[in-house]
Amino acid sequence: MTTTTATSAPTTHTGLVTWVDEVAALTEPDTVVWCDGSDEEWDRLTSELVDAGTFVRLDEDKKPNSFLCQSDPTDVARVEDRTFIASARKEDAGPTNNWVDPAELKATMTELYRGSMRGRTMYVIPFVMGHLEATVPMFGVEVTDSAYVVTNMRIMARIGTPVLRKMEELDASFVKGLHSVGAPLAEGQQDVAWPCSDTKYIAHFPETREIWSYGSGYGGNALLGKKCYALRIASAMARDEGWLAEHMLILKLTSPEGRTHYIAGAFPSQCGKTNLAMIEPTLEGWSAEMVGDDIAWMRFGPDGRLYAVNPEFGLFGVAPGTGMHTNPQAIRTIEKGNSIFTNVALTDDGDVWWEGLTETPPAHLTDWKGRDWTPESSEPSSHPNSRFTTPAKQTPMIAPEYDNPDGVPIDAILFGGRRKTTVPLVYESRDWGHGVFVGATLSSETTAAATGAVGVVRRDPMAMLPFIGYHAGDYMAHWLEVGKQADASKLPRIFQVNWFRRAEDGSFLWPGYGDNSRVLTWVVQRLEGTAGAVDTPVGLVPEQGALDTTGLDLDEDQLAAALRVDTEEWKAELPLIEEWFAKIGDKLPTQLADELATLKERIEQA
Ligand code: GTP
Ligand code: MN
Ligand code: MN
Repeated sequence: MTTTTATSAPTTHTGLVTWVDEVAALTEPDTVVWCDGSDEEWDRLTSELVDAGTFVRLDEDKKPNSFLCQSDPTDVARVEDRTFIASARKEDAGPTNNWVDPAELKATMTELYRGSMRGRTMYVIPFVMGHLEATVPMFGVEVTDSAYVVTNMRIMARIGTPVLRKMEELDASFVKGLHSVGAPLAEGQQDVAWPCSDTKYIAHFPETREIWSYGSGYGGNALLGKKCYALRIASAMARDEGWLAEHMLILKLTSPEGRTHYIAGAFPSQCGKTNLAMIEPTLEGWSAEMVGDDIAWMRFGPDGRLYAVNPEFGLFGVAPGTGMHTNPQAIRTIEKGNSIFTNVALTDDGDVWWEGLTETPPAHLTDWKGRDWTPESSEPSSHPNSRFTTPAKQTPMIAPEYDNPDGVPIDAILFGGRRKTTVPLVYESRDWGHGVFVGATLSSETTAAATGAVGVVRRDPMAMLPFIGYHAGDYMAHWLEVGKQADASKLPRIFQVNWFRRAEDGSFLWPGYGDNSRVLTWVVQRLEGTAGAVDTPVGLVPEQGALDTTGLDLDEDQLAAALRVDTEEWKAELPLIEEWFAKIGDKLPTQLADELATLKERIEQA
């Protein structure tokens, strides 16, 4: 950690120094700190955050080197309505993104940033998404006035001196991420535990690869390496350079015979990526290892196959619902400590708790708003979008391939959402084009991961709706183009899954979690040509008996209901897909319009 006045930077990277000086001149922080990513820096910052009342240090025996943080109750999730893709031309942002002219937005935000770091420290965090040893390392620098952001970034990305040295060696270009909580302190003014502003902007400038974030200190709004860089900016880079930046988990699955397959899965926020990435298969002999739980960058390798890397270094996982019975791997990961918990409850003995962690709640807690909580309380103890930030490498089931800068060859891609009806537990698409159609029309009920109504069905193409850094129609076309870069036999096969279909009484038809391994097994057996399927109007569904349900308490009717392709339900779905495609407008690829016509025909004939 080097503290400087703006002009004495510990680097020879002149482009970086110039930019940092500009930002400091605009935002007027008291001091500038260059982050080295060391343990000493972590210790100093976490202690400062404890002293400031932002962090509570958890009991050292229960959660070593770990901290609890409660945000302002108004700053708890991604703010999609305040997220902007400020491309030079409006048509490049498309109908699914908020757009403002970049010059106009920069003018507005420059005035917000003017003096916005007064009374605060400005931290400079050099980071790399993906591996430092990658053929082309993907650098970024986040400048922020939030120590909470620095500590989280240290878990979520490779940061600090090694990154800076490599940037200097390569005189590398980097994504500029400017972040301010937008709460300057006047002379002598007492700070609050979670500074933020009512005015929020999460702005992206895709052509110049810049991110300007203002007013929020939370998650995807503030940890700029994650959604802002690795998805929104990276998706625009990927379009220009012929690769894919996706909201996907990466899983390694090994069969009882010892054969290995790599599966990527795109599900919208809070729809089960982290859970599937950490699955403990309930089927005898199968084993799973995690490569990534949220983001996959995929490029073709020299052998013509699509390789995926996890650009992240940590997990920013949904806390509620995470327990020994649902995701034991996550529990073992956080028990090792070195983690930050945001917006969960504090136990009387200095540990954390949230709904679903244990079956029986503790008799007394301090809830995420700092109030006394008992099992009789009317509100949950933890915010539904409360999170744990924890090092990926602490996951007992992390795959050694996680450290391979070239990534892993993907055999299958799953698209999944949260649908009470209509979408079967699993089906396979007929080919890449049909699979892209399945992904492009993916739908899900909204969750607490973003502000706004919960439980509304919306289209979420490839689970990327809030993260596509350009026109959604161009994004769909890009997927189709990518499929033309390789021999069809080498492309991943594409499936759709739905763990969330319900019975009439509202209960889930499928047990989910570890039992999703039964679906993964069918997927792998499809790849190996050993599992049967029936052709339905929507795609290939497991034939009777093809899904291994040994040992499951699941009657035939329930399984049939989970797998059913119901003509009436699909007839009701068609106008929703048409409406979605109409929204995409004339950038909708003809091939996808043709796929829709085919689906319609097949449903009408069923
Ligand atoms: P982000 O990190 O926001 O992108 O979300 P995610 O896709 O990683 O979601 P996550 O795995 O954290 O799951 C979110 C919620 O879905 C949790 O409440 C889980 O308990 C629930 N969930 C995950 N898998 C299953 C499943 O197989 N069945 C059911 N019923 N619920 C599940
Ligand atoms: Mn996510
Ligand atoms: Mn997740």
